[in-house]
Amino acid sequence: MPWKAIGIFDSGVGGLTVLKAITAALPQEDTIYLGDTARVPYGTKSPETVIRYSRQIASYLMSHDIKLLVVACNTASAVALPTLRRELAIPIVGVIEPGARAAAAATRSGKVGVIGTAATVKSSAYTKAIKKINPEIEVVTRACPLFVPLAEEGWIDNEVARLTAQTYLKPLLDEGVDTLVLGCTHYPILKGTIAEVMGPEVTLVDSAEQTALTVAQILGERKLLRPEGEQGNHHYYVTDIPAGFIRVGNRFLGGRLGDVYQVSLED
Ligand code: SIN
Repeated sequence: MPWKAIGIFDSGVGGLTVLKAITAALPQEDTIYLGDTARVPYGTKSPETVIRYSRQIASYLMSHDIKLLVVACNTASAVALPTLRRELAIPIVGVIEPGARAAAAATRSGKVGVIGTAATVKSSAYTKAIKKINPEIEVVTRACPLFVPLAEEGWIDNEVARLTAQTYLKPLLDEGVDTLVLGCTHYPILKGTIAEVMGPEVTLVDSAEQTALTVAQILGERKLLRPEGEQGNHHYYVTDIPAGFIRVGNRFLGGRLGDVYQVSLED
């Protein structure tokens, strides 16, 4: 019996940050990635729309007979996870709980900043998840919507990226946070610039590594891990023409992106 793949989706190229962490932790696993590039960004859309998109994508990935679904998009994790968990019979891993765990473990001062899309910040999903772990932690949030188009465009370390980061992040610096959650899968692509603005005293947390550990743990518990030593295959699908995804994705994955196919999603 062939081993089933791990399904991963995001609104665009940002979820490759999670895919990269999963393939580093579990190089033997096959993955199927879908980036909804025709409809990115999700972070400015209503929860109803994001849930509808997420259900369409989940149904597409389920038709590839995946064994676990990773919702590698903070906005979709914040608003669509309960619906997907109710409707699908496979394990589903979002990025918010792993990110919250990493932030709660990292903070020394008990003051954590969270940046994300407008929808993620409005949902308070990170604040709730962090406070569930430790109610004493103070959480300061800020929406940074312009980071998503910058990452999609590959403008990650130029003057525009720096000025945007300074403008968004200054209030969090003034608040004195010692830990900053990159609460959007696109933001780790801008990590260098964000780190430069926040300075060496602030720990940056991205959910990718913790999410990969959660995936490994669940697959291990359910005896669904492919034997070590094998080499996984990776398939990429997008909903718009692949050119931009290939350019940014290859830059991010160091030229290791395979073939990318365009698909159309239906209800
Ligand atoms: C977006 O589509 O707006 C960003 C994806 C995310 O929230 O991680």
